Amino acid sequence: MVAIRGTLKGRDVISINDFSREEIDHILKVSDCIEKDLDSKFGLLSGKILSILFFEPSTRTRMSFESAMYKLGGRCINMGPTELTSVKKGETFSDTIKVISKYADVMVLRHPSDGAARYASEISDVPIINGGDGTGQHPTQTLLDLYTIKKESKLEGANIGILGDLKYGRTVHSLVYALSMYGIDMTFISPPNLSLPEEIKEDLDDKKISYEECERIEDVIGDLDVLYVTRIQRERFPDIMEYKKVSGSYKITKDMLEEGGKENLIILHPLPRIGEIDPDVDDTKYARYFLQTKYGVVVRMAILGLMLGGFE
Ligand code: NCD
Repeated sequence: MVAIRGTLKGRDVISINDFSREEIDHILKVSDCIEKDLDSKFGLLSGKILSILFFEPSTRTRMSFESAMYKLGGRCINMGPTELTSVKKGETFSDTIKVISKYADVMVLRHPSDGAARYASEISDVPIINGGDGTGQHPTQTLLDLYTIKKESKLEGANIGILGDLKYGRTVHSLVYALSMYGIDMTFISPPNLSLPEEIKEDLDDKKISYEECERIEDVIGDLDVLYVTRIQRERFPDIMEYKKVSGSYKITKDMLEEGGKENLIILHPLPRIGEIDPDVDDTKYARYFLQTKYGVVVRMAILGLMLGGFE
């Protein structure tokens, strides 16, 4: 195991921008060590408890954190659906956080409001992991996205395209910031009304990161090493008619990849997919999105182990 003392111990994981490129590299390196010798890590977090507070639906983030904690010998307590908790009786968010932070060593929180995780970190007794805050960020997804890109393609010098709902997609927001730390130029592909928020583009301009924007994936697919596909975030649209206008406006198919994609192109997706990638793509050499979910467990083991000092 590489030296990992102190990197994340006791820290919150709220925004990818809270970490330097060196710290991110370190987390990826620890993830790789864990993946190579998975069985020897059991017991490192014995006696530790992760509490899970999800105010929005989740499959992968919730269950991969549970899996990661169990693989390290720790345990999880899950608040479960909010209808079955005192939230339903009107308890405030702040009281809920204060109480649950007394029950565990670390907490993973998902919430529909941007900034909820940052706020929770200010009032919690234990470190908070942002498991997605509204349209804000999803930093642990980004770490596993970077890990997948590194393992299955390359980070340095890669031509990375990000397709879909760039306006509301929090996985996109944190990924763009992370890729900018590696000096990667990006191609953003989306319907015009779902383009990347202006403030993120301004941040890229400040860092002298160049990017292209376009509407049709067919126009750029031949240039890409990595294509990161996302779903349209239906639940974030203030007006459902606006969603209906863009729903189904892009779809990655096997034919499209075989005709226009580079030999080594890989396709990632944070999932769930709602029709943006045809299931025919799943068995092609391009698909990495299911492998990506598997990498999510080792990366979350690294994050939990480092936060809780289990590797020291
Ligand atoms: C993402 C999320 O919740 O932001 N899912 C995930 O954590 N893998 C992406 C999405 O819901 O579209």
